[in-house]
Amino acid sequence: MGFEKNILCIGAGYVGGPTMAMIAYKCPQYKVLVVDIDKDKIKAWNSASLPIFEPGLDEIVTKSRGRNLFFSTEIEKGIEESEIIFVSVNTPTKTFGQGAGRAADLQYWEKTAREILAHSKDSKVVVEKSTLPVRTASAMERILNENSAGMHFEVVSNPEFLAEGTAIRDLENPDRVLIGSRETPEGIKARKAVAEIYLNWVPKKKIIESNVWSSELSKLTANAFLAQRISSINSISALCEKTEADVDEVANAIGMDSRIGPKFLKSSVGFGGSCFKKDILNLVYICESYGLDKAARYWESVVEINDWQQNRFVQNMLSNMFNTVAGKRIAIFGFAFKADTGDTRESPAIYVAQGLLEEHAEVVITDPKALENAKKDLKPFKQGVTFQADPYKAAKGAHAVAVLTEWDVYRTLDYKRIFNSMVQPAFLFDGRNILDHKKLFDMGFNVFAIGKAPLKHF
Ligand code: NAD
Ligand code: UGA
Repeated sequence: MGFEKNILCIGAGYVGGPTMAMIAYKCPQYKVLVVDIDKDKIKAWNSASLPIFEPGLDEIVTKSRGRNLFFSTEIEKGIEESEIIFVSVNTPTKTFGQGAGRAADLQYWEKTAREILAHSKDSKVVVEKSTLPVRTASAMERILNENSAGMHFEVVSNPEFLAEGTAIRDLENPDRVLIGSRETPEGIKARKAVAEIYLNWVPKKKIIESNVWSSELSKLTANAFLAQRISSINSISALCEKTEADVDEVANAIGMDSRIGPKFLKSSVGFGGSCFKKDILNLVYICESYGLDKAARYWESVVEINDWQQNRFVQNMLSNMFNTVAGKRIAIFGFAFKADTGDTRESPAIYVAQGLLEEHAEVVITDPKALENAKKDLKPFKQGVTFQADPYKAAKGAHAVAVLTEWDVYRTLDYKRIFNSMVQPAFLFDGRNILDHKKLFDMGFNVFAIGKAPLKHF
């Protein structure tokens, strides 16, 4: 059977894998091929043990794989055979040269564009799925369209807004799908071709079309606004701790104002994840490069507040545990940057664990899905850190428990049993405000939550 469209995605990571699995699942009439340079990753996508954990992902991959969804390392063949190519390679923060520590490192993107050009035999639509600085499409067009074979490549921006842990739900029922292109007849045609894919399951009114620059900039802006809300409430959490106001009560009160809304107002040890920090720093760099220093400083402060919040958490542990944690066993409940993912990129737990290890604490990490990544993140620390899948065993003999990821499993543990197995006085630091603090205090714990007055027995 022939397929109606041949779609290729370059980059089989957290975005490329689930996004293409959803397209294949919803559109059996299209052939969807996902390619990557990482052989092990492709092997895992073709196995029963997928390379990423995401609720509901196994099911949709199993239903489509081998039917119209394929994972391969044969990038060249994939390019040749496809008419629409999504590019979902990583765009990390640059670690060298000009813009180091802030600008996006576009080397993987540019390499991919050159590969597309080298292996294409006809014109194609190239879709920016990765998050990119505004005006990247212009550079890509220049690279792709300088060819002597008469091929024309239309670059379309279609940023991804999925969040990890809810990726499948977000892909199946997105708030919106944004598609930006040049406003030329070819650009509009390419935009429509991409929209046609989503129209298989996304209502037309949720598909927004725009110019390509607005689309690129909207992605960075959306992440900046989301992170800004977290930094805003986290800044208020510090004030709550000084004034006996309760940050969850404040968030609830302001969130009921329909102009503010309740989402992304959960105060925490800080935001993590591979994108918020990198995308805001990129936005800062772009503002600076246009001479917009005030705007750059404004957005930079969102990251600064986040760093401050993580640092405050460690300082709070230290000062409340009699100014020393050296030699003390501290159990960290949760290492993933949020619940329902095994991803630990930029997780606040990395920062907190490092801070405690530098103070010579004996740190025990437990997490239902992220222990393998935690081991990689803490590899530089040869001593003082152990990993334990069972939270009860992790807490046994500990002076303190710090909850750093809001996994459901931590809400329902037998904390009386945990308390009885710990060194007294037992401390509990809730970096996610998910536990019943009064109940824990009554059991005997000294409880420190984010943005709340401490509950101490001394
Ligand atoms: P990732 O690191 O999980 O995946 C990127 C993949 O691209 C890797 O598997 C890598 O091997 C592959 N790759 C790199 N260069 C390649 C090449 N030349 N040819 C073939 N494959 C190549 O990254 P990710 O989290 O999926 O993010 C990808 C992009 O999507 C980033 O720009 C990110 O900002 C954006 N984004 C991520 C999320 C998220 O939740 N992770 C959400 C929205 C947008
Ligand atoms: C975020 C955005 O939500 C997605 O729309 C976007 O596509 C994605 O970044 C991206 O570009 O990579 P993600 O990082 O996967 O998604 O997860 P979020 O749910 O946004 O959480 C980010 C961090 O903020 C987590 O550490 C989370 O625990 C924290 N958070 C979130 C809070 O501390 N408080 C909140 O109220 C919400």
